[in-house]
Amino acid sequence: MSKHSPAVAARAVELSKSYGTGDTQVHALSAVSVDFSRGEFTAIMGPSGSGKSTLMHCLAGLDSAGSGSVLIGGTELTALTDKEMTQLRRDRIGFVFQAFNLVPTLTALENITLPLDIAGRKPDAAWLDSVLGRLGLKDRLDHRPGELSGGQQQRVACARALAGQPEIIFGDEPTGNLDSKSSGEVLSILRAAVDEFDQTVVIVTHDPRAAAYADRVVFLGDGKIVDELLEPTADSVLDTMKRLDESGLESGLDKRAPGSVGAHALSSDSAV
Ligand SMILES: Nc1ncnc2c1ncn2[C@@H]1O[C@H](COP(=O)(O)OP(=O)(O)O)[C@@H](O)[C@H]1O
Ligand SMILES: [Mg+2]
Repeated sequence: MSKHSPAVAARAVELSKSYGTGDTQVHALSAVSVDFSRGEFTAIMGPSGSGKSTLMHCLAGLDSAGSGSVLIGGTELTALTDKEMTQLRRDRIGFVFQAFNLVPTLTALENITLPLDIAGRKPDAAWLDSVLGRLGLKDRLDHRPGELSGGQQQRVACARALAGQPEIIFGDEPTGNLDSKSSGEVLSILRAAVDEFDQTVVIVTHDPRAAAYADRVVFLGDGKIVDELLEPTADSVLDTMKRLDESGLESGLDKRAPGSVGAHALSSDSAV
């Protein structure tokens, strides 16, 4: 939990999002309300198709809310013009995608500083140096993405998200393609961003060991929040995943006996 101010860094209020229409309509998110406190590291978990990416994209202003609202700090995203949204994303949000989304013609360093260059800002030299050092990128800065391993490319993407010291960093399976060593380096630096710089981190992960780096795990099932875990360990995350899976919440199927969950559900709405 946050050792600092309990201010809310990001918030979804009754956030719903559907794709398609009629028989093929999918409710990716159904009235999700969740807060992410400043200086807190949250992991979002849940089975494939449970709405994790949709939630991250809506929170980061990369996708629009269907209904409900999203706030970054005190800023309500739906109230922003496209231009204001672009500025907010650029100045206040860092995003690490599973597919690294690097520009192939630019070097690692050019990729890392690209968002800042576009914004006409200079990175804090000491911070950038520390990020590059911790992520083991200093001898790779002149390489283009095609000359780097998957792990190195993801560390470049991570450095890019961290370089401008945004208020909040979102990662959609940022360690999904990494070996355990690279994964540990990425998670450690995200942890440091929270502990040392009071930034806020929200990542999607499938890996209980990655989730154990977080202060809190939010479990999604079928577009709803179905559970939450504070001060997670790999074991407690695994136990919760098993329990949700057995109860049918994780698979989105109602195999659960009536009333068998609920103690951990955040609201009556979260029972599937
Ligand atoms: N662009 C899209 N068009 C249609 N359906 C989508 C789109 N994006 C996501 N979905 C659907 O919304 C649901 C949630 O998807 P997603 O948020 O990607 O889940 P997760 O990241 O947990 O795997 C899934 O059923 C998925 O198929
Ligand atoms: Mg996803």
